[in-house]
Amino acid sequence: MRIAIAGKGGTGKTTIAGTLSRELARRGRQVLAVDADTNPNLAVTLGVSGPRAQDILGLPRNLMTRQTQSDGSTKVVFTADPEEVLREYGVTGPDGVRLVIMGKVGHGGAG
Ligand SMILES: Nc1ncnc2c1ncn2[C@@H]1O[C@H](COP(=O)(O)OP(=O)(O)OP(=O)(O)O)[C@@H](O)[C@H]1O
Ligand SMILES: [Mg+2]
Repeated sequence: MRIAIAGKGGTGKTTIAGTLSRELARRGRQVLAVDADTNPNLAVTLGVSGPRAQDILGLPRNLMTRQTQSDGSTKVVFTADPEEVLREYGVTGPDGVRLVIMGKVGHGGAG
């Protein structure tokens, strides 16, 4: 099951995403949360402590690439093993929700 939460600024997206993730994880689901906000703060809602949340590395942009197939069509493929990516870039909150962050602006001018 994939759930995407998007909408206007300040309408509770992060709160709903975090609460839903934690509740599903507590009920035994495997949950991977992806924070795609350029100013990510889902980690804190998931219960990841402030300093640990600050240190989460954003996913690099080269994890997927387009491959041209023999029939000329293109296919998007992973450049690394997804489980390994999760081990390297993911953090786990107190309810077992795994989180990765994409779209994080690393430094001024990088956005
Ligand atoms: N159901 C609710 N009732 C009252 N306050 C709420 C509710 N849901 C969220 N809030 C509060 O509203 C504010 C905005 O919530 P949140 O950060 O989840 O929104 P957002 O859509 O993710 O915002 P942004 O667009 O800035 O990322 C927060 O202070 C949050 O605590
Ligand atoms: Mg938000």
